[in-house]
Amino acid sequence: MPLPQAFEGRLRLPAVAAPLFLISDPELVTACCRAGIVGTFPALNARTTAEFEAWLAAISEQLAGEREAAPFGVNLIVHRSNRRLDADLEVLLRHPVPLVITSLGAVSDLVAELRARGTVVFHDVATVRHIEKAAAAGVDGLVLVCAGAGGHAGRLNPFAFIAEARRRFSGTLVLAGALSTGRDLLAARLLGADLAYLGTRMIATRESRAPDAYKRMLVAATADDVVYTDAVSGIPANFLKESLQRAGIDPAAGPQGSIARDLDSGSFKAWRDIWSAGQGVAAIHDLPTVAELVGRLEREWREARAELRHL
Ligand SMILES: Cc1cc2nc3c(=O)[nH]c(=O)nc-3n(C[C@H](O)[C@H](O)[C@H](O)COP(=O)(O)O)c2cc1C
Repeated sequence: MPLPQAFEGRLRLPAVAAPLFLISDPELVTACCRAGIVGTFPALNARTTAEFEAWLAAISEQLAGEREAAPFGVNLIVHRSNRRLDADLEVLLRHPVPLVITSLGAVSDLVAELRARGTVVFHDVATVRHIEKAAAAGVDGLVLVCAGAGGHAGRLNPFAFIAEARRRFSGTLVLAGALSTGRDLLAARLLGADLAYLGTRMIATRESRAPDAYKRMLVAATADDVVYTDAVSGIPANFLKESLQRAGIDPAAGPQGSIARDLDSGSFKAWRDIWSAGQGVAAIHDLPTVAELVGRLEREWREARAELRHL
């Protein structure tokens, strides 16, 4: 089970802080890399391509000379709805980054161009068909987005999805969905993943720029408070029930795409005011700094490994 060579020996734990729309920024990314896990952000979190380029420069500058720092990555939405794709890609070809995580489109030319510059390319997948397409496009790794994940979660159980991926793909596997503790990271490795993706857990950190009320709602939530619904944008995603209710959305009423459009033009905006989280809220009870969190994850990982010896 391979880690990309460029990551070997550079991670304190086999974990990636997942890209989070509106939330991940250079501060969160550098805090993650300094703590020893891969930090990432969606290119679209920067308001313009010029700002995106400035963020890359700031991250590279801050981490320059820090030999212990983990690599960082950028999430690129490869879909015609992303009008910035060509311009942002051009920046990534001029200033190569260690990792790019593509979402939606697995395009072999784009993958080849990035890889030719030494960038490791992972692709988000949620179905068996996605695995086949991404493998054909020549990516280095797959992010297996399972049921219960934050954001646009998949529907597959992680045991089933890992089994499907291993049969079809020999590269790096990143498991995503409801992983919040060091024990979860070890469980992901036991299942056959090379890396664990931490999304919801990273929202509940001091460095995350999510609003305080969002963080508090997430910490107070149980797994029952996470609702998988297409009522917000037409695409199924996991949201905190209380934030749906506040926006007047009844998930039980089924698809409400037109409501989502009205919402976007009104005072409640999807993602900004209707807050996403995965079922990993079950194990999230506080708001540590990223350094405290990674220290804790490492302790939990070691304790869980010690327990395994007694099985
Ligand atoms: C608030 C929020 C925003 C997200 N934004 C993105 C995004 O912009 N791009 C992306 O590829 N995934 C996005 N995701 C999905 C995460 O990258 C990741 O796959 C997911 O959070 C992992 O599951 P977990 O939250 O249970 O750890 C988002 C998730 C959340 C909760």
